Amino acid sequence: MIRANRKFTRVLLLALVVWLFGVVESRSQPTQKRMASTTARDQFVDSLLSIMTLEEKLGQLTQFGWSWHDTARYHTFIKAGKVGSFLNIYGAEPTHVLQRLAVEHSRLGIPLLFALDVIHGFRTIFPVPLAEASSWDPQAVEKSARIAAIEATAAGLHWTFAPMVDIARDPRWGRIVEGSGEDPFLGSVMAAARVRGFQGEDLAADNTMLACAKHFAAYGGAEGGRDYNIVDISERTLREIYLPPFHAAVKAGAVTIMAAFNEIAGIPMHANGYLLNEILRGEWGFDGLVVSDYTGIMELQNHGIGASPAEVGELALRAGVDVDMVSTIYLNDLSDLVRTGKLPMSEVDRAVKRVLQAKFRAGLFDDPYRYSDPQREQTLILNAEHLSAARDMARKSIVLLKNERQVLPLSKEIKTLAVIGPLADDKRAPLGSWAAAGRPEDVVTILQGIRRAVSPKTKVLYAKGCEVEESDRSGFQQAVDVAKMADAAILVLGENADMSGEAASRSTLDLPGLQQELAEAIHATGTPVVGVLMNGRPLSITWLSEHIPALLETWFLGVQMGPAVADVLFGDYNPGGKLPVTFPRSVGQVPIYYNHKNTGRPPGENRFTSKYLDLPSSPLYPFGHGLSYSEFAYSNLQLNSSTMEISDTLKISVEVTNAGGRAGDEVVQLYIRDEAASVTRPVKQLLGFQRIHLSAGERKNPVFMLTAEDLAFYNQGMKWVVEPGSFKVLVGRNSVEVLEARFEVVQ
Ligand code: NOJ
Repeated sequence: MIRANRKFTRVLLLALVVWLFGVVESRSQPTQKRMASTTARDQFVDSLLSIMTLEEKLGQLTQFGWSWHDTARYHTFIKAGKVGSFLNIYGAEPTHVLQRLAVEHSRLGIPLLFALDVIHGFRTIFPVPLAEASSWDPQAVEKSARIAAIEATAAGLHWTFAPMVDIARDPRWGRIVEGSGEDPFLGSVMAAARVRGFQGEDLAADNTMLACAKHFAAYGGAEGGRDYNIVDISERTLREIYLPPFHAAVKAGAVTIMAAFNEIAGIPMHANGYLLNEILRGEWGFDGLVVSDYTGIMELQNHGIGASPAEVGELALRAGVDVDMVSTIYLNDLSDLVRTGKLPMSEVDRAVKRVLQAKFRAGLFDDPYRYSDPQREQTLILNAEHLSAARDMARKSIVLLKNERQVLPLSKEIKTLAVIGPLADDKRAPLGSWAAAGRPEDVVTILQGIRRAVSPKTKVLYAKGCEVEESDRSGFQQAVDVAKMADAAILVLGENADMSGEAASRSTLDLPGLQQELAEAIHATGTPVVGVLMNGRPLSITWLSEHIPALLETWFLGVQMGPAVADVLFGDYNPGGKLPVTFPRSVGQVPIYYNHKNTGRPPGENRFTSKYLDLPSSPLYPFGHGLSYSEFAYSNLQLNSSTMEISDTLKISVEVTNAGGRAGDEVVQLYIRDEAASVTRPVKQLLGFQRIHLSAGERKNPVFMLTAEDLAFYNQGMKWVVEPGSFKVLVGRNSVEVLEARFEVVQ
């Protein structure tokens, strides 16, 4: 029963209540069962709340960042009931020690929650989220999150600060790497897949963890792409672009949400009751807990909307931020406000309930130690099955940007192969940003992957050429020499892992350091070159794209990066990834995204149209772009009707034929365009996709179903409506190369 509270008679009585509800629950039908378990949870939480002191309540709202230097201090806090959760501690043993302190040595024995940013794997590091989104394969992405949770929970963790579901339209913003790119539809599908993966079917199971959709909201809209910067967007853009992935995460059952560092139009998110209480909880019915971002409550003072810690603490709590990550303002500065009656106890209670409910959902009142399991930790972490899933996810995430004259795939029997570039044998970069417990020594580099893949007779020559960021040319000559000796050169270029992620905005999208020059020198040798890009954001690679015959965008692919890249280079895997984000020609085009609005003067021949004097307005590579070693032909786009009533479902089908000589995957993409509405609509909008597998010569007919709800938008009065009128359907291999058809929505 409730082992956590066994020393205390009153709590034991509560346990009895819960147990009785459990009996009722086990004899009920599914819906009644769910209701009974929610009632049991609420009853238990209410009873527990009724015997808590104000200090204990504020303790539950407090999350400390673990530091080994402060061990003694934290032990004292735990025993005093002044901690609700920790971030940044993991490991079956250390978490067990802290849990025991909380359960056996604090007055009420309330278990702790342990949290970490498990973003793309725990120890078995998978591709960064932007890469995973390039797979357009939600099942694979769900599996990746599932494995991350299996490993993380064995190491004592209950809560991950993922998925990051921020839409990003500005690649200068380094955190673009943590999300699923620029599109709300793709972003929503990926958000839901990750929530399902982390939380599994039963949150109380010992291998599932609480997910946290972050950063609520519009954090990716930072002005100038500068991290933490202000956001000033319309409510329409907020609701149509930035909020959908959060809503999808909530619908998928995400138990927690993290507030964002930014303000929106003058109101910082940590004090934004409109978004947190009205939209999130009111409109969407979210009943989980909201955690602040790291010191986000304290930072309200820097935003300039509260003059003291107590003032900002009150603002945040009233706005609906339940847990104070690291600021310690709730713990230290709210009690006087409550005692003097300025802040009603009910505000505190509301937040505490949500924390206790989350602990209940995680099964911690049943068995607080179920997650910290040294044996599972030993056997599960980095096991063969996880490594193989990581390799599969990595291959699926690779995007073939270009393949002139079918330079790729290379033969494994090639006589001499040069592998060149600062990232070719780098063990840190493939882990990307937020590598959790990932270790460089677990990484198989691209050079290693290539060496393992080629025939024993192949000579592999390696030269680093230069560093990613430094300006030393002394390695150039050796790189040029090996390229000259080789039948083909693989040039691995890009960014270091810390050049994207948090606090890693860049003002240029060029290849850093001397890498461009290195590429030019290798190209000048005349040896055929394959470019492999390893980076956390779209880069402006116009020169590469014009001069290097074959280019792979591989992002950061995790511990199995080397084998996965080798699988693609030598044709053991036919690449099928597609870009989840637009590649600009130059940073000057940013923000550039496919689902933009038209202007009154769309770019055209005439000078007085919306364009640049010195650059085309089109991107270098459009959203959804990605090639294969096969050719996929699209034909026969058909709608089951040319009209659609609001209550109808429109059936759209297309014929896709693998006209190439190899089996491969194609991501079939469906866009629509509302041709005339009462407010302006995007020139196109992704509404469906399917990653399908076709053997050589095979033909398939993927089908999409559209309902009126899919066509809805906010009208001038901000009402969610479907308007009659003409719509274009666009289906194809990317957001530009599409077949078109039309239908009419009628009333
Ligand atoms: C700050 C980051 O913005 C957030 O994404 C992360 O979860 C927290 N730090 C905790 O590490």
